[in-house]
Amino acid sequence: MKHALVVGGTGMLAGVSLWLVNQGYQVSVIGRNPNRMESLAGKTEDKNAITPVLVDYSNEVLLKENVRSIIKENGPIQLVIAWIHSYAERSIDIILQEVSKQNDKWRLYHVLGSSKNLNEIKKKISTPDTCLYRQIQLGFILENDNSRWLTNEEISQGVIDSIQNDRLIYTVGTIEPWGKRP
Ligand SMILES: NC(=O)c1ccc[n+]([C@@H]2O[C@H](COP(=O)([O-])OP(=O)(O)OC[C@H]3O[C@@H](n4cnc5c(N)ncnc54)[C@H](OP(=O)(O)O)[C@@H]3O)[C@@H](O)[C@H]2O)c1
Repeated sequence: MKHALVVGGTGMLAGVSLWLVNQGYQVSVIGRNPNRMESLAGKTEDKNAITPVLVDYSNEVLLKENVRSIIKENGPIQLVIAWIHSYAERSIDIILQEVSKQNDKWRLYHVLGSSKNLNEIKKKISTPDTCLYRQIQLGFILENDNSRWLTNEEISQGVIDSIQNDRLIYTVGTIEPWGKRP
């Protein structure tokens, strides 16, 4: 079984969770709200293709337990897409540690906001050889003289493009000129 984990996969990354189901993955999705999870599963042809992981990712002990449990249930994880708010920075390390216990190579797509310093984040994260670490930066859209933030659909589509292209760094929209951000 192909197994993917989407952290924050019920929100702006819902389109990514659904796309992964269509690609034949068993998709474990982390989020706290059961209604959002139910609504996501309701959009799939086979509800069982989503494994709900209802956990607050800032709770390190519970996060670790839950990641272990989905690996036991669905097998090794090949793909992690992670959108994690800054207050819970440590949770990416927990996920890295747990998923890296498997021997196979796996990919981590780390989704980051417009103002994040990608280099600094990469330096702080210790990735074992088995983890192929990728960064996706969310930007904004420039339209004529105006600018606007990305829609959820644009974010999900950008993340899908980035997975398909598998670049080390991928920007959805643009972050330049920075002064023109909305
Ligand atoms: N261009 C940019 O730089 C940029 C950057 C960030 C956001 N945005 C925009 O801002 C909007 C709002 O951002 P958002 O982060 O609220 O997006 P979101 O993707 O709609 O929500 C966050 C996702 O993470 C989950 N989540 C949040 N905190 C969690 C926790 N402690 N533990 C487990 N799961 C958790 C949420 O599920 P639960 O609520 O069920 O836990 C949900 O699935 C987005 O829709 C996007 O358009 C733009």
